[in-house]
Amino acid sequence: MELPEVVKVLDLLIKTPTYSVIGYTHGRLVYLSNAGGVTSLWSLDPARGEPLRLTKEPVHSVAYTSTRSKYVIYTKDVSKGRELQKLFAVGVDGGEERVYADTPPMRFFGLAWDGEKLVFSAATASGISLYLAREGLCEKLMDLDAVMYPTSTEGDIVVGAGTLRKNPRSTELFIYNISTGELRVYTPREGSANKNPAVRDCKILFESNFEGSSKLYIYDLNSDFLTEVRFRYRDYHTYSPVEHLIFGWVDDGRVWAVGKKNGRTKGFIEGREVPSPTGTVGYLAVSGDRVYYSASSLTTPPKVYEADLKSMTYRVLIDNLLPEELDGRLGRAYFTTYQSSDGLEVSAFVVESGVVRKPGPTIVYVHGGPWSEVYDQWSVMIAGLCAAGYHVVAPNFRGSTGYGEKYRLLNVGDVGGGDLEDVAAAGEWARSSGLASKVAVMGYSYGGYMTYLALGRKPDLWVAGVAGAGIVDWNELYELSDALFRKFIEELFDGLNRELMRERSPIEYVDGVKAPLCIVHPQNDSRTLLKPVLRYIEKLLENKATFELHVIPDMGHVMRSIDDVFRVLLPAVVFLNKYVREVS
Ligand code: 4NP
Repeated sequence: MELPEVVKVLDLLIKTPTYSVIGYTHGRLVYLSNAGGVTSLWSLDPARGEPLRLTKEPVHSVAYTSTRSKYVIYTKDVSKGRELQKLFAVGVDGGEERVYADTPPMRFFGLAWDGEKLVFSAATASGISLYLAREGLCEKLMDLDAVMYPTSTEGDIVVGAGTLRKNPRSTELFIYNISTGELRVYTPREGSANKNPAVRDCKILFESNFEGSSKLYIYDLNSDFLTEVRFRYRDYHTYSPVEHLIFGWVDDGRVWAVGKKNGRTKGFIEGREVPSPTGTVGYLAVSGDRVYYSASSLTTPPKVYEADLKSMTYRVLIDNLLPEELDGRLGRAYFTTYQSSDGLEVSAFVVESGVVRKPGPTIVYVHGGPWSEVYDQWSVMIAGLCAAGYHVVAPNFRGSTGYGEKYRLLNVGDVGGGDLEDVAAAGEWARSSGLASKVAVMGYSYGGYMTYLALGRKPDLWVAGVAGAGIVDWNELYELSDALFRKFIEELFDGLNRELMRERSPIEYVDGVKAPLCIVHPQNDSRTLLKPVLRYIEKLLENKATFELHVIPDMGHVMRSIDDVFRVLLPAVVFLNKYVREVS
């Protein structure tokens, strides 16, 4: 395929909008979409179907809506992508966006909104604190010395989760009382993982693995009783999810949950499966017998659906078809497993390109996080690569979510160790399975880190690499990071282990890089900062390595617009077109 054609294909694909439902209140469904060019809040009356755009500038994070308020609370970046944000509110029926409460610009994480107040965690360069905001007012509740964030609040009670024992291998709940200022740490068993608590009527619904596998429990604050959730309907128990994407209370006391298994998700209400297409279903917004959600797959862009629990049917509320010009470009997508070098079973999604043969040029696409995963869900990166003529293998290397807490924790203290082996084994699998003629590696963020490391430490496996917003030097990154990311690095390395951080830094292996390397890095990235990458580049220059560097001005870590995606993906595809297509 000639370059102009590749660019045309990419342009069409990237403009395919994304949709993600975040609530239903005051008769309107609320969702995020980049349909207007930037990630914005939208709302819709499902009976009438006229979408209304609520915000103009890119939205950063959003609190799930509460039926007690017609306002949506969200943050916007005020620092050209550096993720220093301020708090805003807008009505679901439109009107002016306004400042909800004046706060210093901070990195917000964990927004718990009950319709009257917002509780959130936020980090500055020096520390992390818990805050309470009410219309026009904001106060700091307490300083935090661990990564913890609120997920739900009701009355005086705030609940959340985090590494409260300062052990990266366990996750505890916290219960904070706003009137007394008391913070209680709750865990059913020391060392277990307890996540995503939601409070209603003094009952805390949460996920725990304290009895082995991850299940849902209710902890009653009044009686101090803990019970496993047993649903009225059997579907949920029959499906038996490995983990939960998200879950919560309906106002009337019903429990909804989205379970995960083998890279896909399914929604349930009171244990009864919510009708949905195959793929990945997100947050469920429930109103009586109606359930609203967005769903997609690796080859089907996100749509918004309305399910009817009486007839057990669903209909498309917001359709989203790929342009005809892209017909046939995305081929078969499937889930597979392979063995890593030490015998560990690793799973991956494979998406074949519809426009190249097998074996053909293949990209091992490494996800970010690293505590995240590739689902059978729309990914503009993966779909973009396929449409441009590459098969894609996207491994869920050790440390990924979705395969149980034990698997997720395999990378603690072993960042860039076993996970790198899994990425390398994905490249080998691509060849031995007959999919790949040649293999390149590509990723963004933690995936960019893996790309640098893969090229430096496994130089014979790859014909090229694309490192987006990657990490090259953990020690320097630590010095440059804010309080949240310093803690995050400490968790990943199981403590501040400077020697391991040095040993697992790609800059140590820059002399090993043989394959052409394309570096794409946002100038204002405050998670994976650019500065260390410039030192890496100096070494590439000294070594006369083949590389290109694209610094994206005025952009931060998170892609917030269609333009941002284009600015990352276009240089990657132009590079791949030269070095993966033409070099054998
Ligand atoms: P992510 O980015 O892959 O987008 O989550 C990361 C940014 C920073 C770090 C890890 C991942 N870090 O450890 O500092």
